[in-house]
Amino acid sequence: MITPEAQGRLERLDISLPSDCLAQQALELDLFEHKLALRWLTQPKMVPLFVDFVEGPLAHRRRFGGGRKQDLLKAVGLSQQTSLRILDATAGLGRDAFIMACFGGEMTLVERDPVVRALLADGLDRGLNDEDTQPIVAKMTLAFDDSVNVIGDYQGDVIFLDPMFPSREKSAKVKKDMQIFHQLLGEQDDADVLMQAAMQTSVARIAVKRPKLAPPLLNQAPSLQFAGKAGRFDVYPRRKLQ
Ligand SMILES: C[S@@+](CC[C@H](N)C(=O)[O-])C[C@H]1O[C@@H](n2cnc3c(N)ncnc32)[C@H](O)[C@@H]1O
Repeated sequence: MITPEAQGRLERLDISLPSDCLAQQALELDLFEHKLALRWLTQPKMVPLFVDFVEGPLAHRRRFGGGRKQDLLKAVGLSQQTSLRILDATAGLGRDAFIMACFGGEMTLVERDPVVRALLADGLDRGLNDEDTQPIVAKMTLAFDDSVNVIGDYQGDVIFLDPMFPSREKSAKVKKDMQIFHQLLGEQDDADVLMQAAMQTSVARIAVKRPKLAPPLLNQAPSLQFAGKAGRFDVYPRRKLQ
């Protein structure tokens, strides 16, 4: 279900979604504090899912985050380089892409799910209208497509993948906003196809974000790995970044 307020925002963003697109998942798109937001129909009091680059955790991370030493930046090469062209082929809510853009990533984001794409487009739109985030968000270009159609033509430096992984944790442990995300997208197990396509390009590096215990994509051991508490980055360097 899409509320009239959310429908108005979608029209302003020039995005059309079928009105019954969330009927199966018991979710609705609404406006929450002026943001396009996805909420449970059955739990209207729960904080909904939205994209916010201006305030909240991402703003905090932009101001006080770990600088260039963050594993994400080491994985894609931005701990050493001040500018790289990066394809984020699994854009999601754009959180990783935003951090990469903060540190010099010229980001192409591709998202195939229409509702996630709408949330992300709304977040980018608001980010472009804020003077602090405008220069960062201006480096993030969003395409609505399946990345298998895009990867082969990509001529930049790095391909970044963060595919969905079936959650084995008890649902109470999974962060609340991620529960909505999983409800929306369901199980996805086609990430190897993206990795295969990425391997056939001439990019200098492929970096993959994985949950701690997940096998590497294509079962191919990475040459470099950066592991943290919750997850890790598998890195496949193919030539020197410049
Ligand atoms: C785990 S989320 C990515 C989260 C993201 N890194 C972030 O920081 O917000 C994975 C996303 O990739 C998208 N996705 C998966 N396969 C895709 C494909 N072949 N093409 C485009 N998007 C894809 C899913 O719809 C989902 O939104």
